[in-house]
Amino acid sequence: MTRGRFITLEGGEGVGKTTQLRALADALRARGIDVVTTREPGGSDGAEAIRRLLLEGGEERWNAPAEALLFAAARTDHVDKLVRPAVQSGQWVLSDRFIDSSLAYQGGAGGLGIEAVRAINAFGIEEWFPDRTLLLLHPDGAERARARDGEVSDRIGGRPASYHEGVEQAFRDIAAAEPERVHLVDASGSPEQVTGRLLTALEDLL
Ligand code: TYD
Repeated sequence: MTRGRFITLEGGEGVGKTTQLRALADALRARGIDVVTTREPGGSDGAEAIRRLLLEGGEERWNAPAEALLFAAARTDHVDKLVRPAVQSGQWVLSDRFIDSSLAYQGGAGGLGIEAVRAINAFGIEEWFPDRTLLLLHPDGAERARARDGEVSDRIGGRPASYHEGVEQAFRDIAAAEPERVHLVDASGSPEQVTGRLLTALEDLL
């Protein structure tokens, strides 16, 4: 049995990731690929339970290390229950967010440091880093973060614009450090154009 692929979509808030994940899955299925879509935090029963702990409640509910460890705990269960079995059975797994969200949010913007957060995650996921990570970025990302400032979403999405600017910068730093795995994709233009760019960024894996 040939191994499938593990592809993740990353980006800041409101960049259209969820819509694009669906469109990309359809485009890959049209090419005869068996695709499973999933999301983080979540993707397994236990991880969905941890998702509620992370996204509900006030800012003070968790300190920064506890927040990072909860994301990592959800992730190892998600890999064990869904990602690894699916990829090993030949399917392509497309995940809406994965480890790079922890690196950018908790590590970069949250101040724990990208390397510290990578280390606690590596303990849980072992070799299950994505085969390719597609990082959706808007040219006017920082402006968009400021425009959303004050909007109440969840515990993390509702953080100030300065936090989300830190997320965006950390994502760019991660992509620069790992250009083979992490590909930048311009999220501007029509949804169809963006899906086309995502497919192009996967071409060598097809
Ligand atoms: P979600 O509703 O899935 O947001 P989005 O539509 O933006 O993907 O909520 C996930 C939130 O959790 C989002 O604000 C990003 C944040 N997050 C982290 O801070 N660290 C992580 O490791 C992950 C997976 C998500």
